[in-house]
Amino acid sequence: MPKIAIILGSTRPGRNGEAVAQWVFDIARRRTDAEYELVDVADYQLPLLDEAVPPSLGQYSHPHTKRWAEKIASFDGFVFVTPEYNHSTSGALKNAIDFLYAEWNNKAAGFVGYGSAGGTRAVEHLRLVMAELKVADVRAQVSLSLFTDFEEFSRFTPAEHHTETVNSLLEQVVIWSTAMATVRAS
Ligand SMILES: Cc1cc2nc3c(=O)[nH]c(=O)nc-3n(C[C@H](O)[C@H](O)[C@H](O)COP(=O)(O)O)c2cc1C
Repeated sequence: MPKIAIILGSTRPGRNGEAVAQWVFDIARRRTDAEYELVDVADYQLPLLDEAVPPSLGQYSHPHTKRWAEKIASFDGFVFVTPEYNHSTSGALKNAIDFLYAEWNNKAAGFVGYGSAGGTRAVEHLRLVMAELKVADVRAQVSLSLFTDFEEFSRFTPAEHHTETVNSLLEQVVIWSTAMATVRAS
């Protein structure tokens, strides 16, 4: 059974991302098609990229990099939960992605974005990043609005229809994660 990480990509105190990622995880763990785990980037306390050798060479020197690499290597696919900061993803998530290379390669990913405009620009940027990391990104995408899916921009009250989209996204990530495992094995 594929292992899928739901990656919480915002780290600031009071972040809305925590409720969003927990909601995705709660929907995911009712499914039986994969093993799902919530991974909080904040728990890994990564500094700004401090490895001397480019990650594509896989020569990690720091314990924080090795710990992060080991966690990401253990998954077949990912669901990135991303805020939109200045029309992109968070610096913390981009930095965490940049730390590694082979651990992302030939896997699948989907995106849950949130922000004033549904986090769509953050997700578009992430899709470009995924191409460089050889990650197959699925079409289904969840876009949550600060205006209609949150009260007072901070209490998460997602519209009901988003649940169906989360399930479509998960289904696509599972199918492509399974397919990409074959690619990695070949
Ligand atoms: C530094 C910063 C920049 C932001 N820029 C945008 C933006 O460009 N577009 C947008 O829709 N929302 C933007 N927002 C609003 C965030 O998407 C919103 O506050 C969201 O809750 C942030 O995620 P977080 O609470 O998990 O940190 C920005 C927020 C911050 C803190």
